[in-house]
Amino acid sequence: MTDRPIPFLDLKAQQARIAADLRPRLDAVLASCQFILGPEVRELEEKLAAFCGARHCVAVSSGTDALEIALMAENIGPGDAVFLPAFTYTATAEVPLVLGATPVFVDVDPRTFEIDPEHLRKRIADVRRAGKLRPRAVIGVDLFGQPADWPAISAIAAAEGLFTLDDCAQSFGAALHGVRLGTAAQATATSFFPSKPLGGYGDGGALFTDDAERAALFRSLRTHGEGTTRYEVLRTGMNGRLDSLQAAVLLSKLTIFEDELAARARVADAYDAGLGNAVLTPARVPDSASAWAIYSVLLPDSAARERVQATLKAAGVPSAIYYPRPLHLQPAYAKAHDGSHLPVAENLAGRILALPIHPYLAEADIARICTALRGAV
Ligand SMILES: Cc1ncc(COP(=O)(O)O)c(C=O)c1O
Repeated sequence: MTDRPIPFLDLKAQQARIAADLRPRLDAVLASCQFILGPEVRELEEKLAAFCGARHCVAVSSGTDALEIALMAENIGPGDAVFLPAFTYTATAEVPLVLGATPVFVDVDPRTFEIDPEHLRKRIADVRRAGKLRPRAVIGVDLFGQPADWPAISAIAAAEGLFTLDDCAQSFGAALHGVRLGTAAQATATSFFPSKPLGGYGDGGALFTDDAERAALFRSLRTHGEGTTRYEVLRTGMNGRLDSLQAAVLLSKLTIFEDELAARARVADAYDAGLGNAVLTPARVPDSASAWAIYSVLLPDSAARERVQATLKAAGVPSAIYYPRPLHLQPAYAKAHDGSHLPVAENLAGRILALPIHPYLAEADIARICTALRGAV
């Protein structure tokens, strides 16, 4: 056994695989010089919509901008409460705050790490009782590649009159009850950050919806609130456009995406089998297919995690912590938080550890990682 360092992510192997398809696509953009919202962007929107079964796709400049555009389209702002999980990437909470709204943090499930619908119900009731904020929207996050419990979230949102936004930044390609994510909420936002299951060579994102009016609003907001002509400004928007080179990269990667999703699932299965009971492996959301953006195990406590992470590192096995601190305890968000304890998110932050997962992880490397982890605990 060698101690050659294993990469956490292998974008080079993927690039070598798509090289012959990618070059002519990039050359076509260079030849046309339509660098922003060129024909590749429209083609990408059509293919992404078809891939996930949504009626409309609007490609944008990042996953963060996708979330912001979706909330802007609902006129969410000061005095509005936006419910979201405390255990997610910072962008989910940042966006309501940037718009002047208040994020209301919800605890998560201890085994799937997804937003806890029962706690969501309680948080909405808390906000209504306090009477200071108007409940307006819920952002469910499909964390680490697995879908959130959309049937439960949607039922609560419908009963409470809340807009549903799916933060699918980590999970494009995942499915719930046999249906790909993209239509589970009223709007779905994803990210094409390079490390995502479907990632570009720079920033990018997309919005999905089945509602034609909402899609038209997204298009307008993406380009400074423009109307039917470029210099008619109907509303305050932003520069949220996707560039054509990113679309060309994504079109190329889309040709192998199904195959890569299957390869990621094989790695997750191999980890489940190879790790046995040494650690708590990720619980699968029932009747779902994960996009396996991240494969996180749970250790008994933070001291054990620190020890294990150091032992893995010495064996050439990288690991990462998503997320070391839940959002309600981040300095930037503590002011917006009502001070309540979110015990599951707080506990997970101290115990969680992500292992390398990507479509090009060799069987020998998976075996090496499992052996190292079993030996470290
Ligand atoms: C859950 C989640 N939401 C939103 C984002 C923001 O996406 P982006 O980096 O493309 O702005 C990310 C990722 O980076 C994410 O993981």
